[in-house]
Amino acid sequence: MKKNYELPSLNEAKLRSRSSVQTQQFILDPQLVGIGLHKKYMLHTFGCQANVRDSEVMAGILESLGFTMANSDEEADLILLNTCAIRENAENKVFGQIGNLKHLKQRNPELIIGIAGCMAQEEVVINKILQSYHQVDLVFGTHNIHRLGDLVYKAMFTKEKTIEVYSKEGDIIENLPERRFGEHKAWVNIMYGCDKFCTYCIVPFTRGKERSRSIDDILDEVKDLKQRGFKEVTLLGQNVNSYGKDLDIEGGFAQLLKEVALTGIERIRFTTSHPWDFTQAMVETIASYPNIMPYIHLPVQSGNNDILKIMGRRYTVEEYLDTINRLKAAIPHVTFSTDIIVGFPNESDEQFEDTLKLYDHVGFDFAFTFIYSPRSGTPAAKFEDNISLEIKKKRLAALNERVKHFALLHNQKMVNQVVEVLVDGPSKKDPNVYSGYTPHQKLVNFKAENVKSGDIIQVLVKEAKTWFLLGEQLTNTKEAF
Ligand code: 5AD
Ligand code: SF4
Repeated sequence: MKKNYELPSLNEAKLRSRSSVQTQQFILDPQLVGIGLHKKYMLHTFGCQANVRDSEVMAGILESLGFTMANSDEEADLILLNTCAIRENAENKVFGQIGNLKHLKQRNPELIIGIAGCMAQEEVVINKILQSYHQVDLVFGTHNIHRLGDLVYKAMFTKEKTIEVYSKEGDIIENLPERRFGEHKAWVNIMYGCDKFCTYCIVPFTRGKERSRSIDDILDEVKDLKQRGFKEVTLLGQNVNSYGKDLDIEGGFAQLLKEVALTGIERIRFTTSHPWDFTQAMVETIASYPNIMPYIHLPVQSGNNDILKIMGRRYTVEEYLDTINRLKAAIPHVTFSTDIIVGFPNESDEQFEDTLKLYDHVGFDFAFTFIYSPRSGTPAAKFEDNISLEIKKKRLAALNERVKHFALLHNQKMVNQVVEVLVDGPSKKDPNVYSGYTPHQKLVNFKAENVKSGDIIQVLVKEAKTWFLLGEQLTNTKEAF
């Protein structure tokens, strides 16, 4: 029953063409302007920061069509789920939510329900939606976001199921409409896609090949944000270290970082770096500019060399530690977080112990920890696995104990220190208690008066909890940590 759909193929998505990617300017078809007047949209975002940034663009496109943001699903005329495919439980959450929307569709047949993001790139997902989730009207992929206006038009006016998922990336589209969700912190894409193909990971399939935005386009965006009062930018890419390789940009990511630092924006962060190509030039750049934050997220995934090899990670534990040491030597008080997968197929107790040893050795400030989840289409999904889920859960619990232990230990070291905090806003419970983050990405809750979101202030840390610090605003301190 193949209809007029543009369906995805992971096999096609795997291919990497040599053809260079062009940059195009977004143009909104004037005939589409107004199709959303008197209508409301609701947008649910799952997954990583790349998805959050994509949602800001989707919201921007919808608002340029005339839609306004709804406060709830009940009052929406269009509901979009921007989905994540990284693990099975992420996908299950989305299917649960699609199921929950069924009754709204029954009550209001005019309601448009759309699925976007990484799950839309998977043919197994599309087949499941076509078979079992008839309430879904619209599906579009990560490479089709700029087409949202046309697709919503089609779904609204033809009443046909509208599916458009390009398997492969197209050009880079600049000048996209956007609605920034943050008021003083912004996400800035510096590149799209991933060519690393770690054996467990679906992302190179769902997000296409690595494509960098031009330095000028990125700098224009950062300068504009600064001018609008934004205090912090996070440069986004699946592996930011690869920035510029496709465009032969001299100096690559280190050069970009330097130029972003020179814009003078108060705080610069970046995510995610891959340990394989973390160059010394990057280390030195981070060390040289005080507005590049001294906090590095560096996913290690495992502390065992054989597992790292089967994961296709391209580095050894020794090389990883060398990068950590280079960063520690150059940047005083640098802090680290990481990602770790436990229960990779056939991971032995000894191999898992190696991960714990590495964790103790580095003493990470924080880690995102996961049980391995087979992703259909990836090489690891075909590996046989002799490790039971029960063992994997035990390992995850043991690792999480370490994560908690070190988080508290590091936070305790901050007590009586003065830290600089970028204020996010007052707490919902108590208007005199605010929260914000330090340069080292420590969450601080503190008492303050006359501060507002976006201020950068000095706070004296009084108490350490596992996941946050408690403090008080200081009014006349000179030095902050
Ligand atoms: N199973 C479990 N965790 C995964 N990650 C990526 N793919 C998988 C998978 N198949 C984790 C990695 C990555 C983070 C974003 O998600 O740790 O760094
Ligand atoms: Fe999820 Fe990865 Fe897609 Fe981000 S890029 S939404 S983490 S699958």
